[in-house]
Amino acid sequence: DSIAHKIKIVILGSSTVGKSSLMWRFHDGSFILNRTSTKGLSDITKVIQANDKNVSLNVWDTAGQERYRSINYLYIRQAGGAIIVFDVTNRETFKELEMWIKEFTDHCEPSAKKILVGNKIDLVDQRVVSQKEARDFAKKHSMAYLETSAKDDIDVARSFQTIAEKIVED
Ligand code: GTP
Ligand code: MG
Repeated sequence: DSIAHKIKIVILGSSTVGKSSLMWRFHDGSFILNRTSTKGLSDITKVIQANDKNVSLNVWDTAGQERYRSINYLYIRQAGGAIIVFDVTNRETFKELEMWIKEFTDHCEPSAKKILVGNKIDLVDQRVVSQKEARDFAKKHSMAYLETSAKDDIDVARSFQTIAEKIVED
């Protein structure tokens, strides 16, 4: 079948939140427990169905480490949307969301969409950011909120589906 839309998204968030893990889980179902930190950019493309149409979704995985951040805006500018990720077991990554949201909204196209994802929900005993707190934060920023585990494959595809549909619907 033919491709109705070609869209690009970026995954943003602090180092170790699981951006690369989410992308690879989505792309080929793989998961590595000790993944090395991303230095350059890498991307995948996957065809999905959104609103009954074939959509080619190009996903760019960015580097969360501070010293690599300066190039992210080049990709943000070309993106139809972003998945902004934090780690529910790491409060610092939740605090840094304000910075990531600003980074995205300062450089993106006016029509670009964004959603919030809280990753690592499999680590139930280590959780420090509650679902309510994250949901309230997302609401304040007019973002949909989803919780994922790249490790256990919980709602990973659904997160990519959600951002794709928001972009296609527009
Ligand atoms: P940078 O590339 O440095 O920006 O980090 P990143 O956001 O890409 O994080 P990455 O995907 O490399 O994951 C960091 C670590 O967390 C890795 O050791 C992963 O195996 C682990 N990890 C990622 N997602 C999950 C998850 O859902 N659950 C658990 N338990 N561990 C996870
Ligand atoms: Mg990475």
